[in-house]
Parts: sequence; C-alpha cells; structure tokens
Amino acid sequence: MRKGMKFEEFVTENAEVELGKLLLSLAEGCKVISHMVNNAGLLDVLGANDTTNVQGEEVQKLDDLTNKILMDYLKASETCAGYVSEENEHQVTLNANGIFTVAADPLDGSSNIEVAAPIGTIFAVNERLSPKGVEVEDRDFLQKGTVTKAAGYFIYGSSTILVMSIGYGVIGFTLNTADNEFYLSHLNITIPAKGKTYSINQGNVEKFDDGLKNFLTHCATIDKETSRPYSLRYIGSMIGDIHRNLLKGGIFIYPANKGETKGKLRLLYECIPMSYITEQAGGEATDGNQRILELQPTGYHERSAIFIGSKNMVQTAMGFLHAMVKQ
Ligand code: AHG
Ligand code: MN
Ligand code: MN
Repeated sequence: MRKGMKFEEFVTENAEVELGKLLLSLAEGCKVISHMVNNAGLLDVLGANDTTNVQGEEVQKLDDLTNKILMDYLKASETCAGYVSEENEHQVTLNANGIFTVAADPLDGSSNIEVAAPIGTIFAVNERLSPKGVEVEDRDFLQKGTVTKAAGYFIYGSSTILVMSIGYGVIGFTLNTADNEFYLSHLNITIPAKGKTYSINQGNVEKFDDGLKNFLTHCATIDKETSRPYSLRYIGSMIGDIHRNLLKGGIFIYPANKGETKGKLRLLYECIPMSYITEQAGGEATDGNQRILELQPTGYHERSAIFIGSKNMVQTAMGFLHAMVKQ
C-alpha cells in the first residue's frame, strides 16, 4: 500500500472481489454527492422537501436526493443485496443475489448544508444472513458492530475525503478535483490516546446527568500538567466533529438526557460505523455502559447515547459518570 495509489487499485489489491465492487460503486455515488454538495447553491437542491422522515424530522431536498443516489449506485454494484437508511422506514432489496447489506446516513449534518460547513455520508457493510436469491430480512441488518464487514464515511469539507476500514486499520482517500478520482492520502490513521478537545452540545447542559456535568467541568478546569482547559469544538455534524478528533485527538459526546437511556444519534447507521472506525484507529466508543459495537440492534432507527474518541478521554469520562452512579 502506498500514498497516492488510486482507490480502485487499493480495492483490487486489498478487498475481496464482491466487497470491492460494492465499495467502488459507493465511492462513485459519493463523487456525485460531493459534486452536488459543493455546488448546492447553484443547483435547485437547497431547502426542505415539505415532508418528514420516519423519525419526524424535516427532510431536506439533499437528504432525499443523496438517499436515492446511494440506492442507485449500490444497486448497480450487483453485490449489495439490501439497504436501510435514515430516510427509509423499511429495508429495500436491491439485488436479491447480492451477499452484503448496507446501512447508511446518506447526509449527516443536514443543518450545515446551507452554511457550507462539513457534512458527510456514513456507511456500514454487513454480510447478509438470509440465503441468496430472496428478499432481504431484518436479521440481515440488525447485527452487532463486532461483525461489521467494512465501514466508513465520506466527509464533504474543505476536501472530500473517504475514511474507511475493512477490518485492518483505518485509511483515508482524498478526492482529486482535477480528475475526480480518490487517491490514498492518509495511511494508517491512529487516534491519539490523549486529546485536548471535547465536542458536545453544551447548550443542553441542564439536561445532563451530574456525572457528565462534572466531566465537563473537569474539561474546563485549568490544570497545566494535563493541558487543561481543553478546547470545546462542536460543529453540529458528527462526521465533522469525529473526523477532527480522529486525526487530532478528542472526545465526542451525544448523551442521553437525565432520566433517559437513549441519546439522539442512530445506532445502526451513525453510532456503529463511527465506532467501528474509531476502534480500528485505536480509540474507544461506549454508550456509557457498554461498548457500542457489542450492542444488539433491535430496530433500524433505534437511538443510542455515545461517548467516542481518544481512549484516555473516554475512560476519564466514564470515571466521572460511574462515580455519580455509585453515590
Ligand atoms: P442528521 O443531519 O443526519 O440528522 O444528523 C445530525 C446529527 C449529528 O450529525 C450531529 O452530531 C447532531 O445531529 C447534532 O445535534 P444537535 O443539534 O442536537 O447538537
Ligand atoms: Mn446523521
Ligand atoms: Mn442524515
């Protein structure tokens, strides 16, 4: 593996043929999305659709378009059997003879679309459990993150970058705008064990448990030895926040509110893929009690609390959380 190699070359040399076809199709689809997102103000794609999704959220035109693009390209791969996403209430069979399923957040950070801030596409690939030749079933998608076959995200920021893992570490490919090809730009991405950044919607602080409040106070307390106070950085798209923390170190938190157990983010197509990438890069991800990758999904749009990022920061956060529970 060498820097500068084309994504296609990487896939041919490193992924199983069937998985490779799926990943190449996905990347082609995301090139279209990248172009659309970069030119959003010039195309008739901004604004809402006047509809709500299964979760009762307002659907942006780009949420809907990107969902359709992913479905079209994954169908063309011939190896992707089925698809679930934030924008589809139920699973869709794309190729009855395919051997994989994909769970996706076609556009993460929708609220950032109109302000040209980073947004992205998140995906996780599973091996289907039902036999080839028939419609896909719930069990093909509702699998623990420990058996994820591949996962990653495309971030549409100041560059378009694909960060992914097929189970052997994490690498990144940058889209070259001159020839519209992805090239290997980030070899062996590892997340620093210690970070100096925390990412959370601090405006919700009054809704948080005392243990979490104490951790946030710890982050903001002056202590030269541990380089505190840490910096608070929060963009409002988990892709943007986690991508920064992955490269520079840090923790991203979307907790459950006081007295609740689930947070806002969706387990299947947000928490599991981002946790898979983070663990592959040497970091940690938990819902506060259990490793995210060991949670058994029970529904496509199920939500989870998440604490994800640098090992030491996640462990320190858990220390504060559980100290309060014991009292
Ligand atoms: P989506 O645009 O796919 O619905 O996801 C938005 C998510 C996530 O990306 C981000 O971290 C979070 O919502 C922000 O939520 P708050 O505005 O509540 O902080
Ligand atoms: Mn999202
Ligand atoms: Mn989304």
